[in-house]
Amino acid sequence: MLLSFAPQSSLHVAIIMDGNGRWATSRGLPRTAGHAEGVEAVRRTVEAARELGGIGTLTLFAFSSDNWQRPGVEVRALMRLFRRYLAEEAERCAANGVRITVIGRRDRLSPTVLREIEAAEARTRHASPFRLRLAVDYSARDAILRAAARLPRIGETSREDLTRLLAEDAGDGAAAPDVDLLIRTGGEKRLSDFLLWESAYAELVFTERMWPDFGAADLAEALREFRSRERRFGKVPAAAARLAPETPERRERAAAAR
Ligand code: FPP
Repeated sequence: MLLSFAPQSSLHVAIIMDGNGRWATSRGLPRTAGHAEGVEAVRRTVEAARELGGIGTLTLFAFSSDNWQRPGVEVRALMRLFRRYLAEEAERCAANGVRITVIGRRDRLSPTVLREIEAAEARTRHASPFRLRLAVDYSARDAILRAAARLPRIGETSREDLTRLLAEDAGDGAAAPDVDLLIRTGGEKRLSDFLLWESAYAELVFTERMWPDFGAADLAEALREFRSRERRFGKVPAAAARLAPETPERRERAAAAR
């Protein structure tokens, strides 16, 4: 089978927004100042993702389940910023066709954060065509464990079954497509328990840019890098596939020759 190189019109881009703390400390500021500046980068990036075109879903890693282990003052600041972002942006997102959903555990969030999440989701429920997913109290491994525990005990299960259960677990309604492009800012090169199932064939782009400095040009550059890559999904390179395309006829001939 020939590989398809048609540009996808509705990519799923996921971002691990790293480097807020270092951005702040390198300027002699408290880490929370880096997170506050990070919110501005979130605004810029959502805007850019809509305007660049080709992206249908953007998932941002806002708070991992392991982030609860940070100092209380930092956790509280992050929750406050998150709440404020939802309160300030829901209206604009609804008007601009951006549907907000929040993925991750909800049972450990404060009632005020929960209220703002539910209000933003309700306000943007019918917004289309762009989907903004914010991962809060999110751990991919925990999400997979919870979904696996809900798999039917009898009969065969498929990848689609687990994908559907993961979407339900995320409180996300419909399953998001697999991640096409995963970007991590801040210079580290790891996945940090983010969308492990959904990123099975994601292209990874790591940038030295600290998250508060991230903007439209960086997103465009990551997309350029993504588009320059050949996605093979385990198959052979396109050139080789063209030389020896695997067809039912070829398979039959090969079987007859054996
Ligand atoms: C990682 O940087 C970043 C976070 C743990 C939080 C990300 C949060 C925001 C960008 C703001 C709130 C989000 C939304 C959606 C409104 P780090 O603190 O680990 O940086 P470091 O590696 O330099 O210490």
